[in-house]
Amino acid sequence: MSYKKTSGHGEWSSRFAFILAATGSAVGLGNIWKFPYITGQNGGGAFVLVYLLCVAGIGLPIMMAEIMMGRRGHQDPISTMQLLAHQSRRDPRWQYLGGLGVLAGFLIMSYYSVIAGWSLSYIVKTLFGYFINTDATRVKHLFEQMMANPLQQIIWHSVFMAATLLVVVRGVRAGLERSVRFLMPALFIILMLLIAYAMTSGSYQQGLDFLFHADFSKIDSHAVLTAMGHAFFTLSLGMGSIMVYGSYLPRHVSIPQTTLIIAGADTLVALLAGLAIFPLVFANNLEVASGPGLIFQTLPLAFGQMTGGWLFGILFFILLFFAALTSSISLIEPAIAWLTQNRQLSREQACIRAGLSCWLLGIAVVFSFNIGSEYTLMGKNLFELLDYLTANLMLPLGGMGIAIFAGWKMHTRDAERELGLSAPLFLIWQFLCRYLAPGAVFLVFLHVVGIL
Ligand code: PHE
Repeated sequence: MSYKKTSGHGEWSSRFAFILAATGSAVGLGNIWKFPYITGQNGGGAFVLVYLLCVAGIGLPIMMAEIMMGRRGHQDPISTMQLLAHQSRRDPRWQYLGGLGVLAGFLIMSYYSVIAGWSLSYIVKTLFGYFINTDATRVKHLFEQMMANPLQQIIWHSVFMAATLLVVVRGVRAGLERSVRFLMPALFIILMLLIAYAMTSGSYQQGLDFLFHADFSKIDSHAVLTAMGHAFFTLSLGMGSIMVYGSYLPRHVSIPQTTLIIAGADTLVALLAGLAIFPLVFANNLEVASGPGLIFQTLPLAFGQMTGGWLFGILFFILLFFAALTSSISLIEPAIAWLTQNRQLSREQACIRAGLSCWLLGIAVVFSFNIGSEYTLMGKNLFELLDYLTANLMLPLGGMGIAIFAGWKMHTRDAERELGLSAPLFLIWQFLCRYLAPGAVFLVFLHVVGIL
């Protein structure tokens, strides 16, 4: 069977390759860096529960829809939306939904690269033994030192950006497929080791309680929005990444089955990261709501004290870097695919243009942590603003659009054939896409702006 290689980023050799690539896109900084710190900021258990409900009730059906639309469209998200709208005789303006996704990916990439740069800097710090026999104060101090130093962050941000572009410019070939095959299980094993460490030397019960004991008095509408936004972010939904990846999925592969595997693996990694981190936070009297620095201020403590911690520390940050890399290529790929297909640029030119503008925006993000931290809008610095705008607004909106298109605008017959679900399951999926997913996003938005 032959597939149109429109975006030139390769085609999956098998179902397994697709699962790895899509899991690679889903599992990233969102699981290991972001999930623990936003859980910390939003009070723990109840937040986790809302997040899990959003993954199951909204994330799963939208992921199926997005892969399904990608496979039918075979192109970048904008052209795919154009084609699907045309096929089902709908308004061509549905292509703007693809445009919103391309833009969201681009904006996320600018700050994602800065944070991934932190992981690179921590590989080196660990390598040079900065954390051997360390204590909480010193670890905190090292993190603050890095935050205050724009040049250090810009260098690592540049290295990460260059690494991403080097992969993207070649297209995703056997090299990446092969490396993910090894990296994903390795990441899993290191996380298990960290959990074992946290179990023996941390306040394990307290960590467990924090993560799973739901106290709803601790969350408000903004926390619910954050949990919902994070469900989109962590599953790479609502912006075309999964759509582009789905465009290379062989016809015979079952979309519902692969979706369950990808979302399951993603959720598992996030929960494991929480289990590894919170016991250490409590045992060391660290601030659970300390924000984006949380993992960088807790895990080095574990590495500094456990046997073999030096090596595990290096390995962990290398894996974090790879997890970020397999996500970042999917963040920028929709923009590259669009530039090459619709702006007649070569892949190299597209990478240079998109990469350069992302890189520049990333530098502004670096400044928002130090010399530019007083520039705020609605009380948020540039990093917080970009994060809020993309994860909490653009991705849920994009996801809502995808659910509406798949549920209402596509011919039922086409969706049914593409998904291959049995009749009752298909009806459930259609109900979730038609009513629950868009309705939930809409209600949360209303609530946040204070209308409800
Ligand atoms: N899912 C990735 C993570 O959790 C981030 C991402 C978002 C990647 C959107 C692609 C698209 O880190």
